[in-house]
Amino acid sequence: MDPAFDRVLVVDFGAQYAQLIARRVREARVYSEIVPHTILAAEVAALRPAALVLSGGPASVHVEGAPRLDPDIYTLGIPIFGICYGAQLIAQQLGGVVAHTGRGEYGRTALRVTGTRSALFADLPPEQDVWMSHFDSIQTAPAGFDVTASTSEAPVAALESLERRILGVQFHPEVAHTARGQEVLEHFLFDVAGCRPTWTMASIIDTSVEAIRAQVGTEKVICGLSGGVDSAVAAALVHKAVGDQLTCVFVDTGLMRAGEADQVEETFRRQFRVDLVHVKAADRFLDALEDIADPERKRKIIGETFIRVFEEVAAEHADARFLVQGTLYPDIIESGTKDAAKIKSHHNVGGLPDDMQFSLVEPLRSLFKDEVRRLGEQLGLPEDIVWRQPFPGPGLAVRIVGTITRERVDVLRAADAVVTEEIKRAGLYRELWQSFAVLPAVRTVGVMGDERTYAYPIVIRAVTSDDAMTADWARLPYDVLERISTRLINEVPGVNRVALDITSKPPGTIEWE
Ligand code: XMP
Repeated sequence: MDPAFDRVLVVDFGAQYAQLIARRVREARVYSEIVPHTILAAEVAALRPAALVLSGGPASVHVEGAPRLDPDIYTLGIPIFGICYGAQLIAQQLGGVVAHTGRGEYGRTALRVTGTRSALFADLPPEQDVWMSHFDSIQTAPAGFDVTASTSEAPVAALESLERRILGVQFHPEVAHTARGQEVLEHFLFDVAGCRPTWTMASIIDTSVEAIRAQVGTEKVICGLSGGVDSAVAAALVHKAVGDQLTCVFVDTGLMRAGEADQVEETFRRQFRVDLVHVKAADRFLDALEDIADPERKRKIIGETFIRVFEEVAAEHADARFLVQGTLYPDIIESGTKDAAKIKSHHNVGGLPDDMQFSLVEPLRSLFKDEVRRLGEQLGLPEDIVWRQPFPGPGLAVRIVGTITRERVDVLRAADAVVTEEIKRAGLYRELWQSFAVLPAVRTVGVMGDERTYAYPIVIRAVTSDDAMTADWARLPYDVLERISTRLINEVPGVNRVALDITSKPPGTIEWE
C-alpha cells in the first residue's frame, strides 16, 4: 500500500541545524525525521525514505574523528541533499577537494548562480544573498557534479549531480536570512526527490486517528489534563479517535491560574462532550503544604499528592488499559540521538509512578510544539488553551516564596490574572515565553489614602526565550507596566507595591523557586 506520507530523513551532524532543517521540510508539507549520523546504509534502506538531507555541523571534515556518513548510503539510489558540513562531506567522500583556505565566510554573502543545469536554482534570480557560516571550503567538486553557484570566497557554493540525485549547498537554506532558501530546499524535495506535499494538518489528524484506533482497539483509555496545550491536544485527538472509550482526569490542585479549571470544564465536558473527571483537590494539596517554605519540599509534596489522587481515580477506572501522554518530538530527539543533545526542561507535569500498569498512547510524539498548536486549532480547541504559555506542574506554588496559605494563593492568582490580562491586551502574550506575577515572602510599608499599609509586593516577571534553557527579561513598554501596577494596587487586596524582575537566565531562573 502507498503510505500516506513520504519520509525525509535529516541526518544530524549538529543539533540545532538538524532540528531547523526538519522543521523546514515539514513546512513544505513533507514529513521529516531526525536520525543520528552513525546510521548505517542498511538502516536507512529499511526506513525507505524518499530523500536524505545531511545537516550542517560544527566540525571540520579534516579533523580526526570528524563525523562521516556511511559511504554505502551514497549508493542506495536515494536522493541526498547536503547542507554546509553536509555538502563538504559529499564533496570529500565522493572524491572532490575540501580545503582549509584560511578564509571562511560568515553572515550575509552574495551568491552567483553559475551553472545552467541547476535544479536547485531553477526560476531563481542569478544573484541572491545567502547566509554562510563555514571555515573550510569545497575547492573541487567530485567528477560528475556540476558546480552551479559560487561566491567570492567559495568557488563551489553549490554542486549538483542530477544523474545520481546527490546535491549540496555551502550556505544555509534553512535560516530566515537566506530569503529564497525555502525555495531551494523545495526544488530539491519536489523536483529532484519527487516528494509529495501531503503532510497537512488534516492528513496528520486522519493518520493519527487511524493509528490510535489500531493501537487501542476497544479498550478504555485515561488521559490526565493539565490545562496546558500538549495534554489538551493529545486528549482531543484521542477523543476524536475513540470517543467514549476515553476518560479525562483534571486534578485541580488549588494552585492553578484563574479560570483554568472552568476553561477545561467548558472545553472538554461541554464542547467536546468528553467523559471528564474533575477532582477538586485544593484542600488536600493546601493542607499538605501548610507551613512548608522549602521549595524542593513543596515540589515533592505536590508531586506525591498528585500521584495519590491520580491513583485513586485510576482505581475507579480499573478497566483502563491505556494512558495518554503528551510527549513531543523534541523529548524523543533529546533522549534518542546522540548529537541532538539539548537539555530537557525539568520535571514533567504530574509524573506518574512506574508501577502503574498502563500502555502509553503518545499521539504527539512526532510533532514539534508549533505543530501541536496548529493541530489544536484544527481540532477546534479554543485559543486560550492552544496558545497558553508554559506553566509549571506545581503551579502557583513555585511563585509563592515562603509558606503557602489559601490567602496568599488567592492574592497571587488575582495578581497573575491582572498581569496576564494586560499582557494580552497589549498584544504581547504570544511573543513572550512566560509572563506572570510572583509573591515574595516580605511585607513592606505603604500609604493608601490616609492610612499606612503593611502588605505584600508583587513582582512582575516576563521573559523571552526559545526553550527555557536561557532567557532574557522582556523590555515591557512603560505604559503596560504602568497599567499593571495601577491595577494590582487598586484591584488586588493585600498588595501595596509592585516591582519588576530584570534578571536574565542565567544567572537567574525563570521561576522564583
Ligand atoms: P526555571 O525556573 O528553572 O524554569 O528557569 C524553566 C522552565 O521550567 C518551568 N518549571 C517547571 N515545570 N515543574 C514543571 O513542570 C517544575 O517544578 C518547574 N519549575 C520550573 C518554568 O515555568 C520554565 O518554563
